Amino acid sequence: MSEDVPDIALELRRHLAWQESDGTRTLLKDPSLQPRVVPPPASRSPSPAPVGEGRGKSVPQALAQQPAASGAIRTLDEIRTELGDCKRCKLCEGRKQIVFGVGNPRAELVFVGEGPGEEEDKQGIPFVGAAGQLLTKMIEAMGFKRDEVYICNVVKCRPPGNRNPEGDEIQACEPFLKAQLGAIRPRVIVALGKFAAQTLLRVDTPITRLRGQWRAYEGIQLMPTYHPAYLLRQPDEKKKAWMDLQEVMKKFGREPKK
Ligand code: URA
Repeated sequence: MSEDVPDIALELRRHLAWQESDGTRTLLKDPSLQPRVVPPPASRSPSPAPVGEGRGKSVPQALAQQPAASGAIRTLDEIRTELGDCKRCKLCEGRKQIVFGVGNPRAELVFVGEGPGEEEDKQGIPFVGAAGQLLTKMIEAMGFKRDEVYICNVVKCRPPGNRNPEGDEIQACEPFLKAQLGAIRPRVIVALGKFAAQTLLRVDTPITRLRGQWRAYEGIQLMPTYHPAYLLRQPDEKKKAWMDLQEVMKKFGREPKK
C-alpha cells in the first residue's frame, strides 16, 4: 500500500495542474455531476508483445473492415510508408510537412484531433502548440504519460491559416486515420472536437450533443469531447471536458482522486 502514496500525490498534482482556475474541483463534489454508470469495456484479446510496431495479436472481426485497399491490417510504419509524400488533396500545397501521429503504437488510449496547426506543421508532431500543451495536461490529469498514448489527427496536413478541414480533404485522409486506429486497436478513442467525432462516427450531430456520450467506432469505445483549442477559448467548458475524461478514466479503473 505504501507504494501508492507517491502515485496519489502525483495524480493530485496532475489534476490540480489542469483544473487550476476553472472551478472543476468544486464541481467534482457535486453529486449530480458525478460520472454516469456506463457499460463495461469490451474485453481485449490477449496480445503477445512483439518487437516493433506490429501488434501481433489476434484480429477482432470488426478490423476485417479496415480501409486498406488490400483489406489487410498494416503496421503504423507501413501506413506511413503508404502515405508517402502525399498529394491526395490540396492541403499538400501549403504544408511544410506531413504530421502523421505520435506516441505508443500499442496504446490503449488514442486521442484524435482535427488537423495540424502552425507549430505542428513546423515540428511534424501533433499537438505541440498551445492546444497541445493543454492536451498534454489533460492526458497527465488522467494519469497517463503523453508517450503512453497515441495522438493523431483527422487530416495530416495543416489547413492554410488554420481554417477548418474541408470535406474532400477529410475524405482523402480518412483511410489513413482508419488504418492507424486499426493498427493500434486501442481500448478507447477520445475524439477531440467536432471534426474527429463527426468523421469517426459518420454523423453531423453537433459536438455539444455528442460530447460526454459513449459511442462505438468499429467496436472500439469512443468518447467525444471538446477540442483543447476550444477549451482555450472557452475555459468554462473545461468542466464538461473533465467530466468526459473522467468517464474514460473509469474505463481504465482510474477513479479521480477527490
Ligand atoms: N489541433 C489539432 O486538432 N491537432 C493538432 O495537432 C494541433 C492542434
